[in-house]
Amino acid sequence: MKTLFLSAFLLGAIATSAQNSITLNADKGKDSINRNIYGHFAEHLGHCIYGGFYVGDNNTKIPNKDGVRLDVIDALKKLKVPVLRWPGGCFADTYHWRDGVGPKDKRPSMLNIWWGNVKEDNSFGSNEFLNMCELLGAEPYLSGNVGSGTPQELSDWVKYTSHPNGSSPMTDLREQFGRKTPWRVKFWGLGNEAWGCGGNMKADWYANVYRQYATFMTNWSNTDRLYRIASGASDADYHWTETLMKELPAAMYDAVALHHYSVIDWGKKGPATNFTEQQYFITMQRALLMEELVTKHSAIMDKYDPQKKKALIVDEWGGWYDVEPGTNGAFLFQQNTMRDAMIAGANLNIFNNHCDRVKMANLAQIINVLQAVILTKEEKMILTPTYHVMEMFNVHQDALMLPLTVISANYILGKDTLKAVNASASKDKMGVTHISLVNIDPNKQQEVTINVNGASYKSVTGRILKSDKMQNFNSFENPNKIVPVAYTDAKLEGNKLTVKLPATSVVVLELK
Ligand code: AHR
Repeated sequence: MKTLFLSAFLLGAIATSAQNSITLNADKGKDSINRNIYGHFAEHLGHCIYGGFYVGDNNTKIPNKDGVRLDVIDALKKLKVPVLRWPGGCFADTYHWRDGVGPKDKRPSMLNIWWGNVKEDNSFGSNEFLNMCELLGAEPYLSGNVGSGTPQELSDWVKYTSHPNGSSPMTDLREQFGRKTPWRVKFWGLGNEAWGCGGNMKADWYANVYRQYATFMTNWSNTDRLYRIASGASDADYHWTETLMKELPAAMYDAVALHHYSVIDWGKKGPATNFTEQQYFITMQRALLMEELVTKHSAIMDKYDPQKKKALIVDEWGGWYDVEPGTNGAFLFQQNTMRDAMIAGANLNIFNNHCDRVKMANLAQIINVLQAVILTKEEKMILTPTYHVMEMFNVHQDALMLPLTVISANYILGKDTLKAVNASASKDKMGVTHISLVNIDPNKQQEVTINVNGASYKSVTGRILKSDKMQNFNSFENPNKIVPVAYTDAKLEGNKLTVKLPATSVVVLELK
């Protein structure tokens, strides 16, 4: 009798753990998903800028505008890149913006000490970057040099880029260097990783330094205000966030940052393509940790800012592996597989679901570095699986987040488990609802039942990104191996939707 009861109990438990069910609360939306969650990051590192965005003013082989590749701009426009962070990263705290403006033959060179000690000739500077953002239709986010610069230098950069004509020697310089009107840069980072490459500061020391620098950064009008972002914590350094929230006067900042990379082990990162399932599992563990990090950093912020006036900005995130064999170790060039699609989908779902606090995120990095959306080789360019996920998910930009309750089956490897399915949903300005679903399980299809509360839909369509192996990637020889296709495995019956998610797939549904 006892055995029978136990078996029935166990069977019940197995059956329950194998089911996925989602409740969509379609009438409970209150926060919108800031489009800047779909932001990017470009550093003077390897071939992100040089060779990636910029191929030189006199290049006749690769179509360009003022040296900026047009194939790249075209692809990024389709992605709807809302904001682009520049010039670093670690590079930012060594960068002196004055070296990168004016006639190019007069610009001094420097050594890029963080990224391979290569010569930086400053041919791509503020004017080139800000003009490129205009071409792209993206807002610039400038990372100021706090580690080795001066408050004067940062304050001058604000004036050079944003203040009205004729208001200071800096704005005269801007006119002299060919720019007739200000660009008006809103987003400013005060240093990068101040606890590390940005100066190895302690939290309370950085808080003081921040206050000093922020004091001299002035708005350019009463209505257009600077948005100042404090260099944030690494991973679970909650003390850092707590110190900033306690020590920074509310009027002096708008956001604190957070950096978290999905890396297996900093000493042994593993290959970008030919990885094992064990390596995949750990990468996904790291990626899904973002949920806990965002929740706990937000909880600290809630104590000091219960009305959520200050934002958490995840201005560096993504997968980090060993560089491709035969490439410069300091250039961080890595291929991009379905594993990266899983990281992207899972992290974007987390950011969407936390959009009450997370107002911007910047994938590291946009071209040829780390989890890039674009890879280039001379005149060739390819779009990675991560690009396709960002493109599929961009329907969530500025849409109203609809809360979901997700019960997921487990993805099991040995004794360890992870939730197989993650999701987020939103309603756009036209009243169309989108649900993005990710199945990280590389071995099993997951069937998901979605119960809709508070709305009724007549039709469902969708797109899917999948491939038969999670190690698969797009290459210069086979650039379209992984591309999104129409998804036809969703069934809508009344207020119940059933979907089948193949192993390691990303699906975005459209409900009308
Ligand atoms: O994205 C590469 C580097 O990672 C950045 O320069 C730095 O901020 C981080 O440590």
